[in-house]
Amino acid sequence: MHKFISGIMKKMSLREKLGQLSLPSGGSMKTGAVKSVELGELIRKGEIGGFFNVKGVENIKALQKVAVEESRLGIPLLAGADIIHGYETIFPIPLAMSCSWNPEAVRLMARISAEESSANGIGWTYSPMVDICQDARWGRVAEGSGEDPYLGSVLAEAYVEGYQGGDLKDCSSIMSCLKHFALYGAGESGRDYMPVDMSHQRMRNEYLEPYKAAVKAGVGSVMSSFNTINGVPATACSWLLTDLLRDEWGFDGFVVTDYNAIDEMSNHGYAPMKEAAAQALKAGTDMDMVSEGYLNTLEESLREGSVTDKQIDDACRRILEAKYRLGLFDNPYKYCNQERSVKETFTPEKRKVARDIAAETFVLLKNSDSLLPLRKKGKIALIGPMADAVNNMCGMWSMTCRPERHRSLLAAFRDATKGKAEILHSKGSNIYYDATMEKYAAGIRPLQRGDNDTLLREALYVASQSDVIVAALGECADMTGESASRTNLDIPDAQKDLLRELVKTGKPVILVLFTGRPLTLCWEDENVPAILNVWYAGSEAGDAIADVIFGNKSPCGKLTTSFPRSVGQLPLHYNHMNTGRPDNDNSHFHRYASNWIDESNEPLYPFGFGLSYTHFTYDDVKLSSGILKKGGKIEVSVKVTNSGNSDGTEVVQLYLRDIFASLIRPVKELKGFRRVTLKKGESEDIVFEITEDDLKFYNCDESYVYEPGVFELMVGPNSRDVKGVRFTAE
Ligand code: BGC
Repeated sequence: MHKFISGIMKKMSLREKLGQLSLPSGGSMKTGAVKSVELGELIRKGEIGGFFNVKGVENIKALQKVAVEESRLGIPLLAGADIIHGYETIFPIPLAMSCSWNPEAVRLMARISAEESSANGIGWTYSPMVDICQDARWGRVAEGSGEDPYLGSVLAEAYVEGYQGGDLKDCSSIMSCLKHFALYGAGESGRDYMPVDMSHQRMRNEYLEPYKAAVKAGVGSVMSSFNTINGVPATACSWLLTDLLRDEWGFDGFVVTDYNAIDEMSNHGYAPMKEAAAQALKAGTDMDMVSEGYLNTLEESLREGSVTDKQIDDACRRILEAKYRLGLFDNPYKYCNQERSVKETFTPEKRKVARDIAAETFVLLKNSDSLLPLRKKGKIALIGPMADAVNNMCGMWSMTCRPERHRSLLAAFRDATKGKAEILHSKGSNIYYDATMEKYAAGIRPLQRGDNDTLLREALYVASQSDVIVAALGECADMTGESASRTNLDIPDAQKDLLRELVKTGKPVILVLFTGRPLTLCWEDENVPAILNVWYAGSEAGDAIADVIFGNKSPCGKLTTSFPRSVGQLPLHYNHMNTGRPDNDNSHFHRYASNWIDESNEPLYPFGFGLSYTHFTYDDVKLSSGILKKGGKIEVSVKVTNSGNSDGTEVVQLYLRDIFASLIRPVKELKGFRRVTLKKGESEDIVFEITEDDLKFYNCDESYVYEPGVFELMVGPNSRDVKGVRFTAE
């Protein structure tokens, strides 16, 4: 590879090298200021290395053809896209995927996404996003795997392996782009693009592990994040992009900026364009997404001596290497096979997988008196703006899908109950009372609005005709994702009032909740008998929800973010540190303890929480030894029994606490989990292994150490309801 690329680079002019470092957008989706849009001319001149946001195998092939046949050196282009949770067969949003606690499901989702994307011209996806987030106000919490670095790492690896397959040269493998490096999810106040100020040891212990896991799994590219880190934009941070990423972690792919990030350094107050581009290059950023700062300023910076030939060559080489690794020099059209596009996209087999996986991501938050599953009989009222909103089932980053081919919840309910029950329907409410608020919320997926009073009246009439009410409510899809931060995490006003009125009818109400983030649900938890959180479950959402509501499948998802009781608790995460005055009794306020006058410290639903149609009981935790010898291991076992009335799947979770350490440690940290499917009445001994590695953390010197002493192991169905046992590490 080295020789081949050196051969090409010898022939390249400086301008052509800078061209490789430039990544314009070719599509209508714009998340920031856009520069050139006429791709053909740039390609002919050899002034781009790739493009993104172009849909359709024929369109992409046409652009590749210009590169190969009409540019001087015929260097193929990278065609990128945000294939975050599927191409046309859309899977649940990443936050939902994480609630399956099923790395195999994530790997399969990424594999199918790669198969479909690669059949449609795309060889590079801007996924996975592994940003840890402890603040549900941030809209992009929907795009990640939640608040835990251990689970985040396991899933990061699964994403990368799924996209990239065994061999990148294979025509169904695409290059994964890890993002957003780094700490994007830790921005101040949950508002998007905000600064991050954080100690290095905290970064390492709480935020960086998932990125590292993806690098270890061989991710081919990394996207730098929009935020600043301790005052320096990530895109210009050489500690991050060179010392840590390349020198310490051994990353050997290329780094691309996020959308227009070089240009944005001037708004940050860091540097104007020319200087920003030079700083980014020197820090280790290889490719410039959209800003054209590299293309238009690096020649001058080179003349002035603020960047070197070597820095430009290194960046250019890394991008050419990526193309080489993908096999694009051998076959630039490897992703442009019209026949594959028709045969391999949105097939019944892939859709079946998406439907099954979707059902695994739903989290049953409440189920009084076993109201769910519903029997298929009598009259069921399906009410709410999400009941028949096919364009809102997929969530953000689903531009490549075709919602007109998906089935709404209403259609799926009617199908599932055909000949057995009658489904009555009413929209019930707008998303918000206020049309402007709704416009902001609905983004690119508007819903037809109706008169607020008339909608409610119709809904109450329909409810009065029914035996049971299913309320399909929540956030509409564009209320989460990029630039979708909120300060109020209630179900939007019109829908919450609708729910109140439905509950007042005295009929049993099941809330089917659509959301891309944790919401504040105290009233709902007190007043609504059953709550099933279904996130945005993708192209097969309707059928997958019907599968669970009517009991063909039992819910088994568990939360990967704490659900707060109120916004004032944020940021909120289970793996927090203790104060010197912890409050161990949350029943009321204690002055001079660390608590609030007006709110408990506890989340409403803790990390790891989720119910099932059956019930699991846990015996006491047993250890193979109370002492962990140096270099040795301890086995932790617990017997789990399905003591309910149906078969089901449980996620057994293992947590650890280091009682005393040179740097204070979290009250609990996830160290392992097992998904186990048990028949009614069946038991299984679940065994975990603990070694020194599990006890390690980054200390004040940023060394990865473990310190002998006493530790507590805790096992349970969620992070709150655990049984603990202590051991000593020598
Ligand atoms: C987002 C990235 C995305 C990129 C390209 C940006 O606005 O932050 O996550 O990959 O646009 O679409």
